Amino acid sequence: MSMTMTEIEKALKQLRLSGVRATLETRLIEAQASNLSFLETFSAILQDELDRRQSRLLERRYQLSGLDERASLAEFDWGYNPKLPKRTCFELHTLKFIAEGDNAILIGPPGTGKSHIAKAIAYSAVRSGLRVLYAEADELLSSIVPASPAEKRRHLKPIIDADLLVLDDLFMARRIAQESTDELQSIVHKRYKLRRSILITSNRIIADWDKYLGDTALATTILDRLMHRSVLAEFRGRSYRLKQATSRQLQA
Ligand SMILES: Nc1ncnc2c1ncn2[C@@H]1O[C@H](COP(=O)(O)OP(=O)(O)O)[C@@H](O)[C@H]1O
Ligand SMILES: [Mg+2]
Repeated sequence: MSMTMTEIEKALKQLRLSGVRATLETRLIEAQASNLSFLETFSAILQDELDRRQSRLLERRYQLSGLDERASLAEFDWGYNPKLPKRTCFELHTLKFIAEGDNAILIGPPGTGKSHIAKAIAYSAVRSGLRVLYAEADELLSSIVPASPAEKRRHLKPIIDADLLVLDDLFMARRIAQESTDELQSIVHKRYKLRRSILITSNRIIADWDKYLGDTALATTILDRLMHRSVLAEFRGRSYRLKQATSRQLQA
């Protein structure tokens, strides 16, 4: 004897087949209306479950990524600052650099769109199924748990495991604390060994980075690994924030 609809619902719930549960009624009606074979209907139902799982996975990856917005290149106005490294940005957006394990560094004055582009690349990586960790650099580096080695490893795990790590606004406060330099060193070294990409944005010119890192020996080992196999994109132009402020004033 076949199950009643309520029993089927219950079984699907028990089996955690929420994709099937969501579309079963539609698929049943469709099967009758279009006279579909069992195999046609069954494969449609399976696909519904796969689609549901995929979109849930991506949603979970987004929630874990630390991104606060779903930025894209579509809404970016390339006409505002014609000197931006447009080609490099689109190239990075293809995510090929992540497959290669290369790093990317976006440098330039505030408001020129570095964080926007970095978030767009990060979001694109999330959508393509990669594990992404986006963080404000200062926040991430000062969040070390100064506890046992085991706790430190646990803290570092997601930072090392991510397919793409974004450190936004590195050296915002210029000099970083010694503990932060140590943390940066262990992140950079570990990710370098595993050939995992880091995307950095900064308002500070690279020539000054060793100064902000303090300890010269440490600075050299960090910068060596960051710069080896790295794409550099220099942002030049005016702050878009000024444009936003002006247009707000005009509207007021
Ligand atoms: N060319 C642009 N077109 C559209 N929006 C832009 C552009 N440049 C910057 N913005 C927007 O201006 C604000 C500041 O940009 P942001 O990416 O934070 O700059 P940066 O990180 O270089 O300081 C953000 O809201 C960003 O979306
Ligand atoms: Mg920024």
